[in-house]
Amino acid sequence: MITTTDLTKVYRSRGREVTALDGVDLHVREGEVYGVVGQSGAGKSTLIRCVNLLERPTSGTVSVAGQDLTALAGRGQGAPPSGSWGRAGSALRQARSRIGMVFQHFNLLSSRTVRDNVELPLEILGVSGKERTRKALELLELVGLADKAKAYPAQLSGGQKQRVGIARALAGDPKVLLSDEATSALDPETTRSILQLLRELNEQLGLTVLLITHEMDVVKTICDSAALMRDGRIVESGKVSELLATPGSELAQELFPVGGVPSGEDRTVVDLTFQGEAATKPVISQLSRTYNIDISILGAAMDTVGGHQVGRMRIELPGRFEENVVPIGFLREQGLQVDVAAIADGPGANPTPLLKEGAK
Ligand SMILES: Nc1ncnc2c1ncn2[C@@H]1O[C@H](COP(=O)(O)OP(=O)(O)OP(=O)(O)O)[C@@H](O)[C@H]1O
Ligand SMILES: [Mg+2]
Repeated sequence: MITTTDLTKVYRSRGREVTALDGVDLHVREGEVYGVVGQSGAGKSTLIRCVNLLERPTSGTVSVAGQDLTALAGRGQGAPPSGSWGRAGSALRQARSRIGMVFQHFNLLSSRTVRDNVELPLEILGVSGKERTRKALELLELVGLADKAKAYPAQLSGGQKQRVGIARALAGDPKVLLSDEATSALDPETTRSILQLLRELNEQLGLTVLLITHEMDVVKTICDSAALMRDGRIVESGKVSELLATPGSELAQELFPVGGVPSGEDRTVVDLTFQGEAATKPVISQLSRTYNIDISILGAAMDTVGGHQVGRMRIELPGRFEENVVPIGFLREQGLQVDVAAIADGPGANPTPLLKEGAK
């Protein structure tokens, strides 16, 4: 549904250049909720603004629903020379109207009622007054705000304002909804209700959602896939459930922190990833009983991702790796993914993932 190919964006201001995007290949499938995370300045907002051409990429392509938006926008920096919008301009406007966007600070017009705010994009598209009103009321119903149609933004709570923002974003019947930190100005409970709404819209309307967040909880709660950005690049991406099972994945460690790897001579530290049925079996106690060994749990995290129980656990087995081949084999037979987090070779050994193998 959304594909960017080798997307770059270089900002030039006062003789300085900032490379905000540095060769980004993003693939968002139809009907998925896709989260982008990363530190401040990583390029997340720039990426999302390039997806709907609010920001013009320096190079590379953006296509949404099979349509190459960069081709519609024409090449080059900044706004096109006056008078050159012509047919290409209107084609881009049309394509853009099929991409909804919600913002952290809602961006509602304070002098307009809730209903008039939702009607705004339809006015711009030239939809007749009666049809606009019908559509706006339908959308307000959808986001649970039918009774606030005549209120002004100042009379609404943060969560209600964001619902208006979402209704407005849906006015053009978009296939894609972009969200830049839509919940970061909201308290945790309101955040949950807005996320729930986004998930419902995703399911009911088949809407593809690309969202930026700095909260890993958001990724856990509603994202099917996620990407981690750093310095203008995507450094990790994939389905959340697959990332969890990827040894050394930074996103997995952020989502399910299981602690560091202690160093020492005679210890083997392994990471277990539980999915589905394996998540509910008493594997650790079985292992301990079967091989008569003491197991230390160094860290563990369990949660539900996309309706499935998943978890990660970091455990320590006594003795060197060679002595633990059989117990590790046992764990794999139980349907767990087992990755050796580190084989300590002395104090201060570097915790590098060494093996990737086994059950999927
Ligand atoms: N209009 C602009 N002019 C110049 N530089 C910019 C502009 N917009 C963003 N940048 C720079 O591009 C880089 C990426 O910014 P961007 O806003 O995309 O980051 P972000 O990941 O969204 O960060 P945050 O989490 O703080 O919102 C930063 O170094 C930023 O200073
Ligand atoms: Mg940003």
